[in-house]
Amino acid sequence: MDFSSLFAYSWATRRLRDETDIQRAARHLYLLRNCFASLVRNPVYHRNVIQPPSFNLESLPELIEKAHKRLERVQLECAPYEEILRRFDRPTTLFYLDPPYWGRKLYRHNFSEADFEKLAERLVNVRGKFILSLNDVPEVRALFASFHIEQVELHYTSQKAAGRRYKEVVITNFRR
Ligand SMILES: C[S@@+](CC[C@H](N)C(=O)[O-])C[C@H]1O[C@@H](n2cnc3c(N)ncnc32)[C@H](O)[C@@H]1O
Repeated sequence: MDFSSLFAYSWATRRLRDETDIQRAARHLYLLRNCFASLVRNPVYHRNVIQPPSFNLESLPELIEKAHKRLERVQLECAPYEEILRRFDRPTTLFYLDPPYWGRKLYRHNFSEADFEKLAERLVNVRGKFILSLNDVPEVRALFASFHIEQVELHYTSQKAAGRRYKEVVITNFRR
């Protein structure tokens, strides 16, 4: 049986009682690789009709090895952005900030207009460099007008309308 199937999907979406960390990691990886947009919270199984499934058991050891190598000397933090800025800001720091989009509620924690205003105020005092990406809307351009703003057009890896390009802004406190 092909492991990338609805059967495996129903296994992966059910949390076992007394699940070990390794079982949880295996389920998480399965969902990341098989669900539309890697949405593990409300997953939608990604069916392939013409192409073979992208989930390939044979290449899994290589994938895990590569992830291991990449993360070997990486320190992961999970905290509100204010705390990250406070703890790690140095003249030599480069922050990449990827907050929720303006006006979109895509996450469990989204940003209100007041949150964006607070972010804009806080960024004025960053000692290091920052790169902030957001959707290109007039409100964002107005709020971050004191910084450098560059427009970019891109495809999202997960998008419903094939071929559509989306406008974003890359906001920095330095010239590229
Ligand atoms: C555009 S997503 C980031 C996606 C991420 N860069 C990635 O590639 O997976 C925005 C994230 O900001 C998080 N977020 C919301 N409020 C936050 C806050 N005050 N501090 C830090 N992160 C926050 C959201 O939960 C969401 O996961």
